[in-house]
Amino acid sequence: MVETISTPNSPTEQLALYQQMLAAKSPDIDVYQIDVVWAGILAPHLVDLKAHSKGAENNHFPSIITNNTVDGKLIALPWFTDASLLYYRKDLLEKYGEKPPQTWAQLTATAQKIQDAERKAGNDKFWGYIWQGRAYEGLTCNALEWVASHNGGAVVEADGKITINNPQAVKAIAQAKPWVSTITPPGVLNYTEEESRGVFQAGNALFMRNWPYAWGLSQSADSPVKAKVGTAPLPKGGEDGRHAATLGGWQMSVSKYSANQDAAIALVLYLTGPEVQKQRAVELSQLPTLVKLYDDPDVVKANPFFAEMKDILASAVARPATVTGSKYNQVSSEFFNAVYAVLSGGKTAEQSLADLEASLKRMSRGGKW
Ligand code: GLC
Repeated sequence: MVETISTPNSPTEQLALYQQMLAAKSPDIDVYQIDVVWAGILAPHLVDLKAHSKGAENNHFPSIITNNTVDGKLIALPWFTDASLLYYRKDLLEKYGEKPPQTWAQLTATAQKIQDAERKAGNDKFWGYIWQGRAYEGLTCNALEWVASHNGGAVVEADGKITINNPQAVKAIAQAKPWVSTITPPGVLNYTEEESRGVFQAGNALFMRNWPYAWGLSQSADSPVKAKVGTAPLPKGGEDGRHAATLGGWQMSVSKYSANQDAAIALVLYLTGPEVQKQRAVELSQLPTLVKLYDDPDVVKANPFFAEMKDILASAVARPATVTGSKYNQVSSEFFNAVYAVLSGGKTAEQSLADLEASLKRMSRGGKW
């Protein structure tokens, strides 16, 4: 019998909980569901699955298997992958003669226009753009997209170099600040993915940044926005910018402290295998990591947007987890706190990114990590 334990919505809080359990060598949890950015942080506590997987890893996207291999050990098998996208209200763009935005400037203008009109028409709860602004891992993902879409890099590059204090990144973060309280509710500073989805799915927002899971739920029988939702790549920083989605996703791992390792490994192989991945793709619109499932007719039929996900995935931006390894969570916390300080009005983007650069330099001992 498998028992599941629910964890907080915010991955940042989830990680703290896992670290407590694992530091205590707790046998209470056999299988951990881990974020794609935690491989380097949690590896010492996880079983090497390679000896038990019978080559199952060869069916998944190779880049994710590389991500999950730490010091030659396969510490997790992929469960689903993630890349963020822009959700929009098809019906409202049509009603007001607008198109999905190509740039953030267009998104801002369209959001303001339709928000004003919808409020005039009587929906005083209506907002233009909903995203995730709480000080947690999700804000790291949102802000990385703003920066990368302006060609401002990935905070720390693959060679360890700290690049976040650059004019494009300053522009990207500064651009988001005035959204708060104009086209975005002030409460966004406490939103994770689920709070965002709540507002959008209730019919109270034009645009939303979220992951693929939000598609399936938006199309459920009782959804007020069923059949009214479209998806597009997230906007570019400008005409010379790029569409940038953050690469996310979840893996399954077995704890070294589990008293039932064989059963736990069998469960992980089942959960990450074709049957479960197909079911989750069809019912929950989660992106499979098994390459073959992208050609499965049932999967394609349930998720019309999977066709465009191929390009989005191929050009998605990874967070600097591999290069910063066990320090990733500290790097991400410094980054989301620096961005949060701008969004909440405490600091200018120039000041905050200069301070961030200084603290990342201290943390990395000169970029050596
Ligand atoms: C999604 C992604 C995960 C990311 C998280 C941020 O769950 O799959 O990688 O860290 O969102 O909230």
